[in-house]
Amino acid sequence: MTEHNGADAAFWDARYSESDRIWSGRPNTMLVREITGVRPGAALDIGSGEGADAIWLAEQGWQVTAVDISQVALDRAAEEAAKAGVADRVDWQRHDLGETFPKGEFDLVSAQYLHAPGEMPREKMLRRAADAVAPGGLLMVVGHAIAPSWNQRPEGHGHHDMTFPTTADVLESLALPEGGWETVRDEEFEWTKPGPDGEPLTRTDNLLLLRRAA
Ligand SMILES: C[S@@+](CC[C@H](N)C(=O)[O-])C[C@H]1O[C@@H](n2cnc3c(N)ncnc32)[C@H](O)[C@@H]1O
Repeated sequence: MTEHNGADAAFWDARYSESDRIWSGRPNTMLVREITGVRPGAALDIGSGEGADAIWLAEQGWQVTAVDISQVALDRAAEEAAKAGVADRVDWQRHDLGETFPKGEFDLVSAQYLHAPGEMPREKMLRRAADAVAPGGLLMVVGHAIAPSWNQRPEGHGHHDMTFPTTADVLESLALPEGGWETVRDEEFEWTKPGPDGEPLTRTDNLLLLRRAA
């Protein structure tokens, strides 16, 4: 195990314990863009973090299973879900997704920024995620395409030793059966946010949205 093993619950519990909130509290932009208006069903959010996506999905009427390796993150997310009045629509489950995976079939499986420093078996997790998509359902994988410009320093939170696959890499590693899936969206997108000194910080991310044949 490396010093910063992102597949390690202790690493993530420590990371989440550093402050009351480490992510924005808002659902991910691409999830909102792509899923708004989709008929709700059962959704699975893998690597759900502080729960903003799962809560947003629940608010749209989805019955959500949200999974993370960090109990600290799950507890925080469950508190937020209760405040948002959707506690009964989200089932928070702790799994190390490299080892165990939630049971069931889902109309949407979402993996948003499932990145971690160290040796996380992301490809295996995503293959398992694809298996969990119901016929006619969606698999959404959003991630960094390159390390965020503001976090490439060794003293940052570890982006320096992560690899960021292209959507072609993700597709290849999924090894989906021919004719079994349709690519709905395959794109790279860039966005900026103001940095601490006002300078723009740029980030390039990518999105793969696939539909399983009905
Ligand atoms: C970069 S965060 C993204 C969180 C959230 N999806 C978001 O977009 O804000 C990655 C998340 O994956 C979780 N994670 C890392 N390794 C995991 C594993 N082996 N099994 C389950 N979750 C894991 C971490 O605890 C963390 O919450």
